Amino acid sequence: MKVLIINGSPRKQGNISKMLDLIGKEVEACGAEVSTLRVNDLEIHPCMGCMSCRDKLQCCLPEDDAQRALKQIVEADALVIGAPCYWGNMPGQLKLLFDRIVYGMMGENSREIPVPLHKGKKAVVVSTCTTPYPFNIFFNQSRGVVRALKEILKWSGFKMVATLEKAGTKRHPALTKREETRCRKIAYRLI
Ligand SMILES: Cc1cc2nc3c(=O)[nH]c(=O)nc-3n(C[C@H](O)[C@H](O)[C@H](O)COP(=O)(O)O)c2cc1C
Repeated sequence: MKVLIINGSPRKQGNISKMLDLIGKEVEACGAEVSTLRVNDLEIHPCMGCMSCRDKLQCCLPEDDAQRALKQIVEADALVIGAPCYWGNMPGQLKLLFDRIVYGMMGENSREIPVPLHKGKKAVVVSTCTTPYPFNIFFNQSRGVVRALKEILKWSGFKMVATLEKAGTKRHPALTKREETRCRKIAYRLI
């Protein structure tokens, strides 16, 4: 089984990176093949919005890391996506990646109804934000990230099997033992 971790945080020692690391190690210990994409290391040209990819099933732009990342997503059996909350949503670089690869995530039938291209695959989402609990949920902070990613994953056919939101990171910057245990347990939802 191939698991692809997509790290949407630019912070290598941040909570997202730590949570993804814990999940990845546990999944690996279960025998899965794990690879990681750090979106801030990727060079991705912004989407031009021409929509030609919807018919041609390929991007009109010269190949860059977006197409290479899509290849990894296609080959993966499951995704683990980590994204800190930036303005109530995922960071721009992660959104940029998904904007560029729509054609490889979701197709359309003759009535222009979306056709998911990754049906049957599982996904996990983890998020962080400084807004404390329960306002991270009421005010759609980390919950805004989860919702936005759920939208992409749902239309692409992924089943979101678990989510983890770490709120209040300003006051509580370190992962608690409970959160670490949760990360390890989440890994088993993917296998
Ligand atoms: C550009 C930017 C925008 C942010 N926007 C929000 C926000 O809307 N709500 C919030 O609660 N935290 C916001 N934050 C704080 C991050 O979500 C928070 O620091 C998070 O813990 C970072 O996680 P990481 O260290 O795992 O990357 C923002 C941070 C940055 C850099």
